[in-house]
Amino acid sequence: MSAYFDNKAPDWDQKQDRSDRARQIAELITARVPPSGKDAGLDFGCGTGLLGFELAAHFKRFVFADTSKGMLAEVERKAGEAGLVNVGTLNLAEEQLSGAFDLIVSLMALHHIEDHGRAIAGLCGHLTEGGHICLADLDSEDGSFHADEIVPHNGFARSEIADLLQRNGVSVTHSQTGFVMRKQVDGREREYPVFLIIGCLKARA
Ligand SMILES: C[S@@+](CC[C@H](N)C(=O)[O-])C[C@H]1O[C@@H](n2cnc3c(N)ncnc32)[C@H](O)[C@@H]1O
Repeated sequence: MSAYFDNKAPDWDQKQDRSDRARQIAELITARVPPSGKDAGLDFGCGTGLLGFELAAHFKRFVFADTSKGMLAEVERKAGEAGLVNVGTLNLAEEQLSGAFDLIVSLMALHHIEDHGRAIAGLCGHLTEGGHICLADLDSEDGSFHADEIVPHNGFARSEIADLLQRNGVSVTHSQTGFVMRKQVDGREREYPVFLIIGCLKARA
């Protein structure tokens, strides 16, 4: 799977709807979780960092984590061009996540991960007390979103993601449709909503 995303990385930002999606999700996140004054942020499954770059300037340290070397190379190139010195990358294919984060965001990554429950549990374990996790991904769909490409999950029921957060001690504070993707499928336009679920770790048990 990482070779697949390595190949996609150089042209990833060419599709306008990906940037629009990230920008809209970032606006919704900052409206609910004002980022100013926060220490550490994480974009999990960051790709080229479209979501994280909308938020990174507000943090002392912002980590972009992914399993694709190619995607992370794009993040490093973009951070260098923008002169961002508070930004780091983490290749999760080689190294584990460490440290605690005040804000963890993830956009369209979970449906590419077989054991998404384990991934969510892992992320919740890296939240600071009072920290927020914001998960945005496809609502359950019939498999037409990825056409011929096989992915581990054809989206998710929002209730399942909310349950997973709650089981890991995180209270769900907000849930909404964050963006609607549109695609031509079999000659007609189809809509694929993307949810945004926000949780807060009030106190560690
Ligand atoms: C559909 S892309 C989304 C990228 C970016 N978040 C965006 O919205 O443009 C999914 C990303 O998840 C990454 N990914 C897949 N499996 C992963 C895993 N187990 N841990 C972290 N990232 C993973 C892929 O390499 C890819 O960059």
